Amino acid sequence: MASERVLSGMRPTGALHIGHYHGALKNWVRLQPLYDCFYFVADWHALTTVYDDPSIIESSTVEMVIDWLAAGLDPVKSPVFLQSQVLEHAELFLLLAMHTPLGWLERVPTYKDQQEKLKDKDLSTYGFLGYPLMMAADILIYRAAYVPVGEDQVPHLEFTREAARRFNHLYGREVGFEDKLAQSLKKLGGKAAKQYTEARTRYQEQGDAEGLEAVRALIAGAGSIGAADRERLLGALEGSRKQILVEPKALLTEASRLPGLDGQKMSKSYGNAIAMREEPESVRKKVRTMPTDPSRVRRTDPGNPERCPVWQFHLVYSDDGTREWVTKGCTTAGIGCLECKAPVAEAIVAELEPMRERAQPYLDNPRLVHDILADGCDRARVVARETMRDVRAAMGLKQG
Ligand code: TRP
Ligand code: SF4
Repeated sequence: MASERVLSGMRPTGALHIGHYHGALKNWVRLQPLYDCFYFVADWHALTTVYDDPSIIESSTVEMVIDWLAAGLDPVKSPVFLQSQVLEHAELFLLLAMHTPLGWLERVPTYKDQQEKLKDKDLSTYGFLGYPLMMAADILIYRAAYVPVGEDQVPHLEFTREAARRFNHLYGREVGFEDKLAQSLKKLGGKAAKQYTEARTRYQEQGDAEGLEAVRALIAGAGSIGAADRERLLGALEGSRKQILVEPKALLTEASRLPGLDGQKMSKSYGNAIAMREEPESVRKKVRTMPTDPSRVRRTDPGNPERCPVWQFHLVYSDDGTREWVTKGCTTAGIGCLECKAPVAEAIVAELEPMRERAQPYLDNPRLVHDILADGCDRARVVARETMRDVRAAMGLKQG
């Protein structure tokens, strides 16, 4: 049996840091053996905010994909591709735009939030308003069952589900469905038709499924109707719409508990990040110079791990034994901060070592990354085209 599809994407932000790894990538890697995973670079989404300097997108893409591969994404198992090279995304985006109410887009919380946050940028553009709809197209075109995302993307997922529902509602209807259903019911006959209508209404209005089984048996046994009637009656019992686009579910990635070196959110622009391909000596230096509990001024002052960013790193990188050692040593001034930091630094170095190794061939030969993306695009396109055939047919757009 084909397994369910998972889809996720990231905007190309260049080389990633260990916050990205623990917050998203590790989960992407974990999902690979469980689902048919598709992972893509959302370069059009990047354009919604960096439209004035698109030149950085290409190098950021390559750097980011190298880190995906370094983290353990297997491009043979999971297609890795570029949004802008699967033009079908744009077609679905366009078609969805026709019936998406403006109010839905204006109400997505990230719309105003981001405009507020990126004040120095003019984000009152058509493209930026359409951000969630473009994301909906990305997801719906693969009929993805699950989308691993962080908390911040949940409103976009909810929006995507509504977009799918609206599409199915508008176009998932057999032509003349209600008339045909009425005719089938007439053939089914008086009492049975009444029982059918009551059970269907109870189920669709109140979710009461109790009467459904009996009615199904009734339809199966009815001699007065043909196969098409039977199929229509059975289908209409639970809904009158064909599912052309699938409503995806969010697979919430637990928010990364790994803060930046200073305890703030880890971000390259705050200068508090450790890159996924950071050199061991640089990792050690960064950890060594991390701020600690400010009340531990002298070595002899006891500290409180809860007030120390290093502790947050122990929570991600250390086992119970080490954590006990930290808690005891810190609160009794039994260990010094440099001592406390050493196992964290070594754990990060050890975690990154295989990643640096996996990245090397791609750094030596970036052509390989392009080949992986080209292959991923080809495979993504096959699925996207299949969906678009159904979408066009449902909307009555003639094929060729
Ligand atoms: N909006 C997502 C982010 O900023 C990126 C994205 C675009 C995405 N399209 C997607 C994520 C489709 C998942 C699925 O992180
Ligand atoms: Fe932080 Fe460890 Fe120093 Fe305590 S001993 S303040 S937990 S670095």
